[in-house]
Amino acid sequence: MKLKDKVAIITGGGKGIGRAIALRLARDGARIAILDIDPASAQAVAEEVNRLGSRGIGIKADLSRYAETKQAVDEAYAEFGRIDILVNNAGIDQPKPFLETDDAFWDRFIAVNYKSYLNACHACIPYLMKNGQGSIISMGSDAGRVGTAGELIYGGTKAAIMGSSKALARELARFQITVNCISPGPVDTDIWRSLAADEKGKKIAEGVVRAIPLRRIGSPEDVAGAVAFFAGDDARYITGQVLSVDGGLTMIG
Ligand SMILES: NC(=O)c1ccc[n+]([C@@H]2O[C@H](COP(=O)([O-])OP(=O)(O)OC[C@H]3O[C@@H](n4cnc5c(N)ncnc54)[C@H](O)[C@@H]3O)[C@@H](O)[C@H]2O)c1
Repeated sequence: MKLKDKVAIITGGGKGIGRAIALRLARDGARIAILDIDPASAQAVAEEVNRLGSRGIGIKADLSRYAETKQAVDEAYAEFGRIDILVNNAGIDQPKPFLETDDAFWDRFIAVNYKSYLNACHACIPYLMKNGQGSIISMGSDAGRVGTAGELIYGGTKAAIMGSSKALARELARFQITVNCISPGPVDTDIWRSLAADEKGKKIAEGVVRAIPLRRIGSPEDVAGAVAFFAGDDARYITGQVLSVDGGLTMIG
């Protein structure tokens, strides 16, 4: 039970990668608050956490809004009395050529993908500081490291998270709070399935699998394993890093 007595907040934990992270950290002994815009899925995952013998709560919050995020984080703290781990996972994706996007699209992506990261960090950090240690783990994306056609805004928001996390790692190091990012390649969730929904998308998806040295799409559990590593004591001397979890697709040094 590597995370026994720890409390983790997982944003966007109602499905996909976030759900797998919630269940993995619960198996490792952590109590879990799932913050999601969809209260039914947050509650369903909280119940799965409870069935694993840990304690989970689901809290509805649109994390692109600061006041809602702060209220949800305060609620988690009131319930558990501490916060040790923040996993910034909530995000959206919708590939489109840049010239087919408009400023409403840009605003939505910046708010949901990047501002939610700022909101959750800002609301959680005072609680993490109280413990004299902690970890923040955020979902970047290979789209923000190497560039993907049709993902200019999405990739930009992910690059912003990965860049900001390095500054945050330096600011928080003296509190023994580590700040790291995971940069997934394609992972088999609703986001990925929606990209591969039509014939053209399927062809692109098949091409992507051929380009992955380990020859398969990642699973949410593959990503959750890397999060569990960064959340645990084995990673206590690692901060400011970005780790690709992508079957070798990008191999950035
Ligand atoms: N699936 C992939 O291939 C892939 C690749 C690289 C990075 N990522 C990143 O991993 C993270 C999880 O992706 P996923 O594939 O599991 O997505 P998903 O769509 O399966 O799940 C995203 C979750 O975030 C929640 N959410 C969305 N907007 C929210 C908001 N405003 N406030 C609160 N919750 C909100 C959704 O309700 C959902 O539960 C995202 O940040 C995504 O960008 C995914």
